[in-house]
Amino acid sequence: MIHIKSEKEIQLMREAADILKKVLKEVEKHIKPGVTTNYLNDIAERVIKENGAKPSFYGEPCPYPGGKDYKHALCLSVNDEIIHGIPSDRVLNEGDIVCVDLGVYKNGFHSDAGRTFGVGKISKEAQDLINVAKEAFFEGINYAKEGCRVGDISNAIENYVYSKGYTLLEEYQGHGIGREMHEDPGIPNIGKKGTGPRLQNNMAIAVEPMVCLGSNDVYVKKDKWTIATVDGKITSYYENTLVITENGPEILTLD
Ligand code: CO
Repeated sequence: MIHIKSEKEIQLMREAADILKKVLKEVEKHIKPGVTTNYLNDIAERVIKENGAKPSFYGEPCPYPGGKDYKHALCLSVNDEIIHGIPSDRVLNEGDIVCVDLGVYKNGFHSDAGRTFGVGKISKEAQDLINVAKEAFFEGINYAKEGCRVGDISNAIENYVYSKGYTLLEEYQGHGIGREMHEDPGIPNIGKKGTGPRLQNNMAIAVEPMVCLGSNDVYVKKDKWTIATVDGKITSYYENTLVITENGPEILTLD
């Protein structure tokens, strides 16, 4: 069921998203060669707590049999890891790229966003890949307006990414968001124009293209969470929570 938000609920989502933006800024400042992904997660946990909020990802059940519930604030996915990387004592090196995915829960509402950052100086190939995920998000949200359908967003993302010679992860998608982190409708990154649920004003959705430099074949690592490419090539990810309004999409998790 799709939950259309009231003005009051949207205001509460803005507050959660404002904290998310602070956390992301603080984490970004500390991304440099030599830091561990645990260290970045600790920063996120601290800033979330200081702001009287909770990490949305706490307690998220593992989608794979035998895996444990998620117990970190961030997913930190490095290079060939595309999503759901678990913070660890892994040290970031110059030239790596790291996807930071973050959810903040406050006043009964979630916000969700992701960015890919370079560690020190990165290759042009990596920077181009980072740019494409972000650009694909903006291509998609041209259709985040009442009267369009979910498939219009999906199709715009798909066309953009494949026209640039990259591929998209097909097994994972964006989603509605609100009192639950994952609500209806699902927002696939691949699809046909004019298909899927109709978009309406005051719907809140998270749009999240996950882009691969090479093949989009992926596997789940032994930790039962991290999704990485089979060919070992790098990936990038970009996500925001937004509300559909009569004046176009209001992106809550972006300044
Ligand atoms: Co999401």
